[in-house]
Amino acid sequence: MRVLVTGGAGYIGSHTVVQLARAGHEVSVVDDFSNSRPSAMARVSELAGRDIPLESFDVGDVERLGDLMDRGRFDAVVHFAAYKAVGESVERPIAYYRNNLGATLAVVETMVRYAVPHLVFSSSATVYGADAPVPMTEQLPTSATNPYGWTKVMNEQILRDAVVAHPELRVALLRYFNPVGSHPSGRIGEDPSDVPNNLMPYLAQVAVGRREKLSVFGDDYDTPDGTGVRDYIHVEDLAAGHLAALDRISAHDRPLSVWNLGTGRGTSVLELVHAFERASGRPVPYEVVDRRPGDVAASYADPTLAERELGWRATRSVEDMCADTWRWQQANPDGYPV
Ligand code: UFG
Repeated sequence: MRVLVTGGAGYIGSHTVVQLARAGHEVSVVDDFSNSRPSAMARVSELAGRDIPLESFDVGDVERLGDLMDRGRFDAVVHFAAYKAVGESVERPIAYYRNNLGATLAVVETMVRYAVPHLVFSSSATVYGADAPVPMTEQLPTSATNPYGWTKVMNEQILRDAVVAHPELRVALLRYFNPVGSHPSGRIGEDPSDVPNNLMPYLAQVAVGRREKLSVFGDDYDTPDGTGVRDYIHVEDLAAGHLAALDRISAHDRPLSVWNLGTGRGTSVLELVHAFERASGRPVPYEVVDRRPGDVAASYADPTLAERELGWRATRSVEDMCADTWRWQQANPDGYPV
């Protein structure tokens, strides 16, 4: 297929572009580098074994996106481009709504105009809201606790409405749990531009000596060791889930599909800290501090629908996730070159 990947230079996008290209798809990327680096794309091309065509503009620019769609004759779009920091979304809600809704509207509008039928959309387990029972199934009602989460809920609704009015569209909503890890080459990985918000990049920076210690946000949750439990999924498994979803929606007639992409296994903060210490051979000093507002005790997927319908399942262990993160972090202690 001819596939346009928005946000293809970003963390999950870059890994997915490599896998799409290696599977024989003809991939193009659009990315404005607002939260990614041009040097990531050079490495993506190197891992893909061929030059990946790249356009650099904001996907919300419907004129330029229309022009690209017109020229590209794409069969599918994998739409990653979005802002993703929960805390920042509380500070800058209007920017988050404009960016994350505007991008999806531009994508779906131009897909309809240029008859591009298949869309894979980056959603999040955050759409299950605050009090969802675990393991989380796709049938749960959706909700959110912050503007970032609402942009995912609202984007899902936009796409549900779009497939009703435009029956030629085939859409997959992929609800990611907690993506971590890196390509096993150590050439591409997660490169937060600021102090990391998320656990894995933070503890990798502690292990490599860039930060003094990890703050563990609460140890009085109703979980086995009191710390928060999450469903960490290796980014390579997650990328493979996109290829499986694309295959499935192009071979079946269902207008809209929703799949959780997770492992189904929960890991606590302290379990991840200790797994990382083993993988890196370095100590990870930590201090228990207050809970972070908005965090839930436990979040993990029921991944059986994706297994049944996509023939996909996550195969990489927490040890693999830590080993690959560490390889990337050691080879690139300051992230991508500017
Ligand atoms: N944590 C710490 N210290 C840190 C960072 C995190 O103890 O410095 C803890 C959190 O309290 C939580 C766990 O580590 O228990 C995971 O936290 P992350 O920030 O890595 O991930 P979240 O589950 O909070 O958030 C992720 C994505 C969001 C998404 C959310 C819900 O980053 O985009 O899952 O799906 F909205």
